[in-house]
Amino acid sequence: MKPVLRIDSQRVQGEIDELALISEAPAPAVTRVLFSSCDLEARDWIKSKCLDLGLHLRTDNVGNIFARWEGTEPHLPAIATGSHIDAIPNAGRYDGVVGVLGGLEAFRALKATGFVPRRSLELVIFTAEEPTRFGLGCLGSRLMSGRLSPAKAAELRDSDKISLPEWLARMNWGQPQLDTVQLQPGCYHAFVELHIEQGPLLEREQIDIGVVEKIAAPSAFRLRVEGAGGHAGAVLMPGRRDALMGACEIALGIEKAALESGSSDTVATTGVIRVEPNAINSIPFCVQMEIDLRDTDIETRNRVLDRIRQEANEICRRRQLSLTFESINADPPAIASPELVESIIQNARESGFSASTMVSRAYHDSLFMAVLCPITMIFIPCRAGVSHRPDEYSSPGQIAAGILTLAKVLQDWSLSLS
Ligand code: GLV
Ligand code: MN
Ligand code: MN
Repeated sequence: MKPVLRIDSQRVQGEIDELALISEAPAPAVTRVLFSSCDLEARDWIKSKCLDLGLHLRTDNVGNIFARWEGTEPHLPAIATGSHIDAIPNAGRYDGVVGVLGGLEAFRALKATGFVPRRSLELVIFTAEEPTRFGLGCLGSRLMSGRLSPAKAAELRDSDKISLPEWLARMNWGQPQLDTVQLQPGCYHAFVELHIEQGPLLEREQIDIGVVEKIAAPSAFRLRVEGAGGHAGAVLMPGRRDALMGACEIALGIEKAALESGSSDTVATTGVIRVEPNAINSIPFCVQMEIDLRDTDIETRNRVLDRIRQEANEICRRRQLSLTFESINADPPAIASPELVESIIQNARESGFSASTMVSRAYHDSLFMAVLCPITMIFIPCRAGVSHRPDEYSSPGQIAAGILTLAKVLQDWSLSLS
């Protein structure tokens, strides 16, 4: 009989609360943007927790952190878990963090029983799952998977025009070369990420554990609309070439295109609009917009993307505006490993938790880990489905259920040779 695994939910909650204090925004909000002093402080904080547990640390050239518990057969591909600790502006304390601190607590719980893994167990803390600095999400796992080439990554610039290599040179994490970050398929035997659901379904259905079968296909693009500026009082309405009015029409068209896609899974968000010169008495002459478009079905997503491009061109032609389109990313969906999904459902139910399969509509580092090895995710409910907000919340009991399930799955898979 397996020894009983004990999850110390008070300790985990204490750590979640402590990490939340490392924030650029005042509590209860959490902001930790890649390369900020809080990002660096949080990295040191989590590394010291890993060292306390006797894990071996490695950091790659883009700052992905790997904390390894060596198995008795260290040459075998390891079982990995993990997530991210960066946070978008004005976020909560659970997104990503539950998967990192939960992974650590799972290791602790296993160690406390005297368990010895056969395959090594590895906790991965990914660099910049959030797109805040460079507009591109999952920077660390994208590079690891090879879906983002080092050359393309080197072209990334933040809003201050500072490039990724320039930032890395300041960080001193090793060489700023990015060509060593990519890992080869098969490097891990499995990857399982614990995460809050970020949606309302588990809470509504009173399900303790959601097991991800598929991660929706995300895409993002940037539009630049240019017209003619001028004096807000002196230039009469007929014949104006107001870039913002064109952008607004495009944004409404984007909403309509998503609503009319024929799939309730299509979601489109115009989340960024930058107006120049951004002055009340001056006609906007240039607008940059960033749009996030997703669907679980890649064909539907691409069809909506084509419609948006076509309509944006028509709007700009009619309004005599110029338009440039830049794709930020257009990723395929990820399909989870049926064996991992089954193993999570079984382990959750054996622990007395209700469990059900589901789709992840948010993207996660697991989307890119799927290029390297079989993956799935363990979702836990979060209050009212709220996420990316300071009032994001999962209870200590809900988090502990996720961690216990994760620990059992890690235990089983680290012993398996097949
Ligand atoms: C991740 O945070 C996402 O936007 O899905
Ligand atoms: Mn997030
Ligand atoms: Mn996340």
